[in-house]
Amino acid sequence: MMKPVRILHLEDHANEPESAAQELRILMLEDVEEDAELIECELQKGGIRFVAKHIRTEKAFREELDQFYPTLILADFSLPSFDGLSALAIAKEKRPQTPFIFVSGAIGEESAIETLKNGATDYVLKQRLSRLVPSVKRAVHEKEERTQRLKGQEEILRLNVDLERRVAQRTDELEHSQAALRQAHKLQAIGQLAGGVAHDFNNLLQTIISVGDVVEKDLSPDDPHREDIGDILQMARRGALLTKQLLAMGGRQTIQPRPLNLNDIVSETENLLRRILGEDITILSELAPDLAFIHADPTQMHQVIMNLALNARDAMPKGGTLILKTSSTPLDELFLSKADLPMGLYVILSISDTGTGMTKEVQERIFEPFFTTKEQGKGTGLGLATVYGIAKQNNGGIIVCSHLALGTTFKVLFPALVNDFNKASKKDQPMKISTEETQSTGTILVVDDEAMIVKHLIRRLTKKGYTVFGASDGADALKLLNANPAIQLLISDVVMPGMNGRQLQEKAHKLRPDLKAIFMSGYPEELISEQGVMPHEITFLEKPFETSALYKMVAETLTSRA
Ligand SMILES: Nc1ncnc2c1ncn2[C@@H]1O[C@H](COP(=O)(O)OP(=O)(O)OP(=O)(O)O)[C@@H](O)[C@H]1O
Ligand SMILES: [Mg+2]
Repeated sequence: MMKPVRILHLEDHANEPESAAQELRILMLEDVEEDAELIECELQKGGIRFVAKHIRTEKAFREELDQFYPTLILADFSLPSFDGLSALAIAKEKRPQTPFIFVSGAIGEESAIETLKNGATDYVLKQRLSRLVPSVKRAVHEKEERTQRLKGQEEILRLNVDLERRVAQRTDELEHSQAALRQAHKLQAIGQLAGGVAHDFNNLLQTIISVGDVVEKDLSPDDPHREDIGDILQMARRGALLTKQLLAMGGRQTIQPRPLNLNDIVSETENLLRRILGEDITILSELAPDLAFIHADPTQMHQVIMNLALNARDAMPKGGTLILKTSSTPLDELFLSKADLPMGLYVILSISDTGTGMTKEVQERIFEPFFTTKEQGKGTGLGLATVYGIAKQNNGGIIVCSHLALGTTFKVLFPALVNDFNKASKKDQPMKISTEETQSTGTILVVDDEAMIVKHLIRRLTKKGYTVFGASDGADALKLLNANPAIQLLISDVVMPGMNGRQLQEKAHKLRPDLKAIFMSGYPEELISEQGVMPHEITFLEKPFETSALYKMVAETLTSRA
C-alpha cells in the first residue's frame, strides 16, 4: 500500500521563511505514487523550485487547501475515491486565484473542454509531460500578472479615494476662503460707503448735538421742551452710533489702541449690562486672574461686549443666564484654523447665553452686514458684522457655537501682548480735570470748512471763558495765527479742501513751535493708517462729540507739556 500523504522537501510549511517565497507550493492530487514522482521529477528538471504535498482524498484535499496554502494545484482527472472535476469545483470556491492544472492520462476531448469551462488553467497529458513545465510557468506568470494588475487596480482605487478626499478637502477650503473673501468684500464696500458719508454726516450730527446740548442745559427743569430736546439728542447720538458701527464693520473706525486688560473693560460694562438686561437675566462673570494684556481700543471693546450682550438678551426673552468669561490661552492649530489666525497666545472673551440658539442656516449668515432675524425696527443686522470687523481690525477672530434651545457662545479672540504693560496702561490714563463747572482762560483758533461747526464751537468755547478765533480754511488760519501771538491752541478739522488739517498744523508749527493742536473729524482719512489706527502723538476728537468732551480735551491739552 502507498502512504496516503507524502511530504516532499519540507515537513511543515506553516511558517514558511522569506527565502522560500519564490518557491511554488504545489498541492498534488494523485493516486499513483510513481506518477507523482515522475511529475516532480519533470518539474525539477525544468528548474522549478517547489515544495509539494501529495494527497489523494477529498478530505485531505479540503484540509490542505486551508493548511498548506498551495500556490499551484496539480490534479489527476479520475481517482478511485474522488474525481478531478469535483476537486476543481472545491478549489474554485476556496482558492479561486490558485492556478489549477489537470495532469492526467488520456481524457476525451469533451472532458478536456469541460475542465477549461469549469475554470481549470490548463490540462497536460501524462503522455506528453514535457508540456508540464511550460504550462506551469505560464500559469504562474499569468497569476503574477493578475496579482500585479489587481494590486495596480487597488492602488488606483486607493489613489482615487485619496484624491477624492483631497479634492473634497480643497473644495471645502476654497469655499471657506471664498466665503471669507465675499464677507471681506462686502465689509470693504460698506466701509467705503460709510467712509464716504461719515465725514459729512458726522458734521451734521456735530451741530445737532452741540446745539441740543446747550439748549437742554439752558432750559429750566420744568420747561415743556426739555423732553423734545432730549429726544433730538438721543436720536442724534443713535445716528452717530450707526456711522460708527458702519465704519467699524469695514475696519475703518478710527481707533486709538493702547495696552489694556480686558477684565477691566468687562467689569466696567457689567453695571451697565445689569441695567439694560433687566432682572430676568442673571449675569455671571468668570475673569481670569492673570489675564494677558491686549493692544486695543477700549471703546471698541465696549462695543463688542455690548453688541454680543444685547444679542444674548434678545435670545432670552423669558430670562436666562449671561456668562462673561475671559482667559488667555496659547491656541493650537485646529482651533485657530476655525478663526483663521496664526499661532500664538490669545486673550479670549467668551460670552454665552442660555437662549434660543440658532439654526445652521442662521449661523451661516450672522456676520453678514444687515442680516437680521428680528422684526422690522428691532434690529439693523449690524451688531455681529461690527464685532467681526473689530476683531479683524485688531488682528483677532471670532468663533460661534450654538445649539437650538440650549444657547449660544461667542468667543472673540485677540492676540495677547507678551510683555507686562501694567505700567503703560496706568501712564495712559488721562488726567482727571473737572471741566463742567469751572471757567477757563486761554486763546484758541478753530478751523473747519463747515461754517456751522465753527460758529457753534466759538460759542461753546467762549461761554467757557476762552478767547476764540474762527477760520474756514488753512490760509485764513495761518493769517490769524500770524496776527495773534496769544493763540495757544489750534482746533482743526482734518479733511478740508485745499490745505488739510495735518498740512495746516505743519505750517503752523513752523510759525509757532509751541502751538498745541487738537484734530477733529468724523472720518479722518488723512490722519489714520490703513488699519484705521490713529498715531499716538495726535490729540484727536471724534465728531460728533459732546460739549463736555470738548471742554475736557481742551483743558487737558492746554495744561499738557508741548
Ligand atoms: N446670542 C444669540 N442667540 C441667538 N441668535 C443670535 C444671537 N446673536 C445673534 N443672533 C442672530 O444673528 C442675527 C444677527 O445679529 P446682529 O447682532 O448682527 O444683528 P441684530 O441683532 O439682528 O441687529 P442689531 O444688532 O444691528 O441691532 C440676529 O438677528 C439673530 O438672528
Ligand atoms: Mg445685534
